[in-house]
Amino acid sequence: MESYHIRGGTPLHGEYPVKGAKNAALPILAAALCKGGIHEIYGCPDIGDASVMMDILKGLGADCRRDGNCLVVDSRQLTSAAVPRQLMSMLRSSVFLMGSLLMRTGEAVVYRPGGCNIGSRPIDIHTDGLRHLGYTVTEDEEKIVCSGRCRGGRYVLPYPSVGATENLMMAALSGDGLTVLENCAIEPEILDLQGFLRTCGFQVYGAGTGTIAVLGGKGISDAMYFIMEDRIEAATYLMALAGTGGEGILTGVRGRLLGSVLQVLENMGCRIRSFQDRIELVSPERLRSPGMVSTAPYPGFPTDCQPQLMTLAVCAAGETRICEEIFENRFSHKKELMKMGANIETCGKNAIIKGIGRLQGAEVCAQDLRGGAALVLAGLMAEEETVVTGIHHIERGYEGLERGLRLLGGNIEKKNERKTKKTEESAAEVGCVSADHGSSPWVPVLSHV
Ligand code: EPZ
Repeated sequence: MESYHIRGGTPLHGEYPVKGAKNAALPILAAALCKGGIHEIYGCPDIGDASVMMDILKGLGADCRRDGNCLVVDSRQLTSAAVPRQLMSMLRSSVFLMGSLLMRTGEAVVYRPGGCNIGSRPIDIHTDGLRHLGYTVTEDEEKIVCSGRCRGGRYVLPYPSVGATENLMMAALSGDGLTVLENCAIEPEILDLQGFLRTCGFQVYGAGTGTIAVLGGKGISDAMYFIMEDRIEAATYLMALAGTGGEGILTGVRGRLLGSVLQVLENMGCRIRSFQDRIELVSPERLRSPGMVSTAPYPGFPTDCQPQLMTLAVCAAGETRICEEIFENRFSHKKELMKMGANIETCGKNAIIKGIGRLQGAEVCAQDLRGGAALVLAGLMAEEETVVTGIHHIERGYEGLERGLRLLGGNIEKKNERKTKKTEESAAEVGCVSADHGSSPWVPVLSHV
């Protein structure tokens, strides 16, 4: 069982180059099926989720290989292979394959996802949108069968869902008319997906605004595409610098993508300078509470930074209120932080954190990706040693988190320990099951291609 062993108390300092965005790479890998070709995708992080997505694409007949910093996807031949279910149960983001498979093949069969550790995560907007675009969608309690072509027209998303926006963008490519999607999510990763699709020769306009126009048609070329930087990874490292009282520079990241995060860190006393492609942060002697912070769709405070902010609030002077408006169950890190001495009360979507002087090291267990990152930050801020188990959750979405933090002077080491009776009991106690990724089982099975 792998774990991070962290000895806290050292202010981080130095320079960290931000990697490519997980949440841009995953929809773009799915989109590589939209145009049969040999696509070169640069800057894709070497993370668990990307590896699973590559295996899924292989299971559908595409050829995928990593060539250093480049993923080469040959999607010229798709087969009607059913991807092994356990492979799909590891990656909720395989939902993007609905749109790309429908666009390419006119069919897609996916298995109904369960919830995951941060919420029920239904897909009603995805299926409702596909029906409005003209697809036939039949559902039972186990699977969803889609077929047909996009007839064009207009669809207003009832909520600016990131995944539904991306799925519908791809599904709308199959028609030969104009589709207009309104009330779309405007996260930067959606603009990146549009960039990739345009590189393939598709006509997609408006990503990053609330209205996206898609002209159906065939792609015309193979893509060579560079994925955008990971703004959530950047925010996580900024918070590690701030939480440990350090200072440093993140390179290869645009400050304007992190406006709401930088504002909160400044409200907590950090001095921040952001430039076209880097962000500098100097921490105060002690962070102060930012007051009340609510998560919101972009450009609001990202839900993917909420757990990390909670960790900072635990030691900030004063009382912090965090309202998690996006997912209904995204406080799994609270219990683990309280093992380290945190003073946190939660009720529904609200959390109240009373700042304490110092966290105490403990053995804690990651329950999900960003909650796990929050526990690593807590370990860096705590006295003595902290052991974080369940790190497979973290490695799904962060490439070499321990290496990056060591680069900034953090005392963190990854260890692979034989399961001892004690660790098994403690892991079982908090439901930290090492084999299960706990996310939803999507299994797109092509009925034919
Ligand atoms: C994307 O998830 C991200 N994942 C998430 O990042 C991120 O937290 C989320 O967007 C919000 O920004 C990827 O891009 C791979 P949503 P997604 O659809 O698309 C509800 C991380 O840590 N909803 O915008 O699933 C849903 O339940 C991950 O990197 C419906 O009700 O997010 C949630 O409450 C976690 N019906 C809210 O909308 C639907 O059909 C936002 O979900 C779809 C969503």
